[in-house]
Amino acid sequence: MERKVYLDNAATTYVSSEVLAEMLPCLNGVYGNPNSLHSFGRDAMAIVDKARDRVAKAINAKTANEIYFTSGGTEADNWALKGIARAYSNKGKHIITSSIEHHAVLDSCKALEKEGFEVTYLPVDKYGMVDLAELIHAIRKDTILISIMAVNNEVGTIQNIKAIAKTAHENGIIFHTDAVQAIGAVKINVQDMEIDAMSMSAHKIYGPKGCGALYLKSGIRIENLVNGGAQERAKRGGTLNVPAIAGFGKAIEIASRDIIANQQKLKVIREYFIKELKSKIDYIHINGHPHQKINGTVSVTFEMIEGESILMLLDLAGIAVSTASACTSMSLEPSHVLKAMGIPDEIAHGTIRFSFGKDISKNDVDYTIEKLVEVVEKLRGISPLKKKK
Ligand SMILES: Cc1ncc(COP(=O)(O)O)c(C=O)c1O
Repeated sequence: MERKVYLDNAATTYVSSEVLAEMLPCLNGVYGNPNSLHSFGRDAMAIVDKARDRVAKAINAKTANEIYFTSGGTEADNWALKGIARAYSNKGKHIITSSIEHHAVLDSCKALEKEGFEVTYLPVDKYGMVDLAELIHAIRKDTILISIMAVNNEVGTIQNIKAIAKTAHENGIIFHTDAVQAIGAVKINVQDMEIDAMSMSAHKIYGPKGCGALYLKSGIRIENLVNGGAQERAKRGGTLNVPAIAGFGKAIEIASRDIIANQQKLKVIREYFIKELKSKIDYIHINGHPHQKINGTVSVTFEMIEGESILMLLDLAGIAVSTASACTSMSLEPSHVLKAMGIPDEIAHGTIRFSFGKDISKNDVDYTIEKLVEVVEKLRGISPLKKKK
């Protein structure tokens, strides 16, 4: 049987059996519309309430009413950026974000620029870190919102969210973070970290695709993004996706329950993978922060060859990786994240993101390294760049 190794968990994960078990009864057993007043509706709403409690507990929200279910991280990002900016536009029209955000944030900022908002895109250092001094320098009297991601999806760098949030609040500014890649990888406590709004997604933590949530601290105003019925306390219209919400609730509960064990395991795997890589393949660079990074994501640049070619040859060997984030991997544009980190385009093109899942074994790593050595040797053998070196 052909061997398969899935190393693209930052793009998405499978739905775990515990999560699936939580979802299945909601597909045909408890099928009422949670907004119906009869018992069928109330039963469905009880499931939604349970999931809302689980999400709130996992991130230490003050109340479950601070959780709004969405169709995923993209919607949560769009809603946070557009909804908060529009709600506070009478106070000011300036937003600060970073140049390495996910496109859900960057493109929402671009859309807001068309509405007359001004956006500052902070640079990052070579490790992908936002500099607090640069942030302070960018703050203006009319700054209403700062949005900085907790963990970068391409290189895994973890930002100093607590310090950034504190700076925002000292200046009377609302702070949003995209925590899609952080949940399950780093402990998130929205009260302690002073987070006002936070985007989450289910399908990166063994939950279903097409489901996520926005945490919005009580008292923060937001305009609706999805207009319609009175669902989600009249803030987000649309019949709730009960099975997915039930799955998300379970997935985030498990992610926080298992965070320490999962991270300990992934740290060992990561270190072993990097050690083996470095000893077997030359002319490589590990991207991202050397310490302040999540364990599951390793971004590696292989000099003299193209990431797409590596991806395709690894795919033939049954190994799934990514060249950048899943959303941009169809484009041949060099990654905006690596560019912002100062990595030259010709080198950035040779970058692969390996993202490990909780079931990864040392055997999987050994097989990946064995195939990588073959693939890199083969590609470098025919690379015109190799000759120039
Ligand atoms: C950092 C980050 N933000 C937002 C998203 C979008 O989330 P979703 O796929 O749930 O729309 C992703 C997905 O890759 C992500 O990695």
